[in-house]
Amino acid sequence: MRLNITVLPGDGIGPEVTREAVRILRAVCDLYGFEVTHEEHPVGGVAIREFGSPLPEVTLRACLESQAVLLGAVGGPEFDSLPPGQRPESGLLALRKALGGFANLRPSVAYNAIADCSPLRPEVVKGADVLIVRELLGGIYFGEPRGFSEGACREAHNTMRYSVPEIERVAHIAFQQAQLRKHKVTSVDKANVLETSQLWRQTVTRVAREYPDVKLDHMYVDACAMRLVTDPRSFDVIVTENLFGDILSDEAAVISGSLGMLASATIGGKVDLYEPVHGSAPDIAGRGIANPLGAIASAAMLLRHTAKFDQGAQDIEDAIREVLDKGHRTADLVRGRARRASTTAEVGGLVESAVADVSDRRRAYHAV
Ligand code: IPM
Ligand code: MN
Repeated sequence: MRLNITVLPGDGIGPEVTREAVRILRAVCDLYGFEVTHEEHPVGGVAIREFGSPLPEVTLRACLESQAVLLGAVGGPEFDSLPPGQRPESGLLALRKALGGFANLRPSVAYNAIADCSPLRPEVVKGADVLIVRELLGGIYFGEPRGFSEGACREAHNTMRYSVPEIERVAHIAFQQAQLRKHKVTSVDKANVLETSQLWRQTVTRVAREYPDVKLDHMYVDACAMRLVTDPRSFDVIVTENLFGDILSDEAAVISGSLGMLASATIGGKVDLYEPVHGSAPDIAGRGIANPLGAIASAAMLLRHTAKFDQGAQDIEDAIREVLDKGHRTADLVRGRARRASTTAEVGGLVESAVADVSDRRRAYHAV
């Protein structure tokens, strides 16, 4: 078996965390004789500096020719004054559009070992396991018309737009994911105010008839924002439009205890895209202290969704759990002064050895 991927480390902590993710991907593939080839290319701010564009032609071409893309993060304060279309973020949005993946899966899981990192009480968060399926190619992020207009006073406008097929395709992914989990979908909208949300609700309701084994409910986004932190265990799969999903997925990070833990997979298009949910974190970039687990867990999602190599994905996820259970933590997960924080590379190394242990143990178990 062979896997050919493009790695886009990007800006800020992106290169530090993707280095560890690639290391783990290679380690698990080596264990099973799965061959991985990878090429690295610039995206975001580094690409602006080097090529004058946040998504250079060579980068895009390499991505389109690979089976999957693993991205770190884009953006940084030095680019904040650039016009919207030239910022590092616009490179990421152009990449998402070109790759075509419309369903962005963002799981947030409460790990027992780091329950104390969540600002939520342990009895609220314990056992929570939410999958946000965020529509990624539509809505207000891409709707036209958009822009600034000069009149008596300066104005700006954006357009939230959805078509039935755009809603149907992401709804199917959400129901299919729910069938692999607890068979429940919560569709999140603002149908009391927005036409796009009314269409969203009608369409998701219709798609649900094809999945009689999945229970569907609907929730307004404001209520969902509250429920996520008061009763996260009441959710299984949440399906929602692009901007609501962006906001709710950062909020859902409180379930895990750190944004650094969160992974994502974008599927359904020509080439799948994997990226941790956290950003470039310029304040800690270059210090080797960032949490690589979100990026590593994104590599696990790559094995599951693109390579259909569930065992490899499971090994990485078990290894992450084991490293946390043994008490190792990057600085974002250390509460008080109780213990020394591990560096990004140390955590990568620990996950690498845990992957070997986990797969050895499973092989031994299957051999008896
Ligand atoms: C995310 C990020 C991006 C988004 C930015 C960097 C464009 O916040 O992936 O959640 O808004 O989609
Ligand atoms: Mn975001």
